[in-house]
Amino acid sequence: MRILVTGGAGFVGSHLIDRLMEAGHEVICLDNFYTGTKRNILKWIDHPYFEMIRHDITEPIRVEVDQIYHLACPASPVHYQYNAVKTVKTSVLGTLNMLGLAKRLKARFFLASTSEIYGDPHVHPQQEDYWGNVNPIGIRSCYDESKRLAETLSFDYHRQNGVDIRIARIFNTYGPRMLENDGRVVSNFIVQSLKGIPLTVYGDGSQTRSFCYVSDLVEGFIRLMNGDHTGPVNLGNPGEYTILQLAEKIQEMVNPEAKIKFEPLPQDDPKQRQPDITRAKTWLGWEPTIPLTEGLKLTIEDFKARMV
Ligand SMILES: NC(=O)c1ccc[n+]([C@@H]2O[C@H](COP(=O)([O-])OP(=O)(O)OC[C@H]3O[C@@H](n4cnc5c(N)ncnc54)[C@H](O)[C@@H]3O)[C@@H](O)[C@H]2O)c1
Repeated sequence: MRILVTGGAGFVGSHLIDRLMEAGHEVICLDNFYTGTKRNILKWIDHPYFEMIRHDITEPIRVEVDQIYHLACPASPVHYQYNAVKTVKTSVLGTLNMLGLAKRLKARFFLASTSEIYGDPHVHPQQEDYWGNVNPIGIRSCYDESKRLAETLSFDYHRQNGVDIRIARIFNTYGPRMLENDGRVVSNFIVQSLKGIPLTVYGDGSQTRSFCYVSDLVEGFIRLMNGDHTGPVNLGNPGEYTILQLAEKIQEMVNPEAKIKFEPLPQDDPKQRQPDITRAKTWLGWEPTIPLTEGLKLTIEDFKARMV
């Protein structure tokens, strides 16, 4: 198949491209390199089945493909809040453009949505039929609300124009190739402990998160895309850890000498986030396989190699 991956030079997108290329597909990677880098896809650059297009997804584009994995959107708060209006444009106009393309080509369309659409949830763990508790005017809204609209657009194109859609709601994912400066908790703690500076925990560290290793996530993408269910489907690791537990784990693995310091919680920081993955298990036969310690080991090795 010929497959378009938007945001393919980013963290998750580049791991997806590895899987698709290894399976023998023809892949077109579309990216404006805002948070993505050529280094992530370097090994495919000269491959005859691989094509890289530098393009901003807010502008329409014409290519001929059978499937579209739509991932282009900055995913970490530092980057999506840097230019909030641009984030909304990327998420909304970008998704509109890709759905328009999917409609014209009769291509299957996959949206990388997010657990952020649940906001600061009142139910725990979150199931797909929970509508969420999102602040529409906060500093995270440019991301949360525009991803919610991206889901709405996908379902409207599906109902109105018969576009074949797949929606994944991705929970915290980590692994090699995360940016050093992306401000997400796993990369923060690894970088801080490698540098021997204190690990910053916001609040008292009792807020919980779940952490999915990137290869598990990509397996979920491929099963959802090639299965019969539109979704939305939660993809994440239900193992729940407090932020303090994560800090202590990384401290122990990288640098037991590193200190932990506490700072005030940012606005709208969710207290608990854990996926209910019953749907993914029953519809896709999918569940995460990589334990946190093993995934962290691989991630730490990658950061070490990049930071020397
Ligand atoms: N990593 C996670 O934990 C996580 C969680 C939930 C959802 N997601 C979603 O998965 C997708 C990929 O996330 P990621 O962690 O790989 O982030 P990332 O920032 O590494 O990747 C995003 C990619 O999109 C590109 N991009 C951004 N704006 C663009 C534009 N206007 N035009 C073209 N390309 C553009 C970036 O350059 C980058 O390569 C995103 O849609 C994100 O919302 C990720």
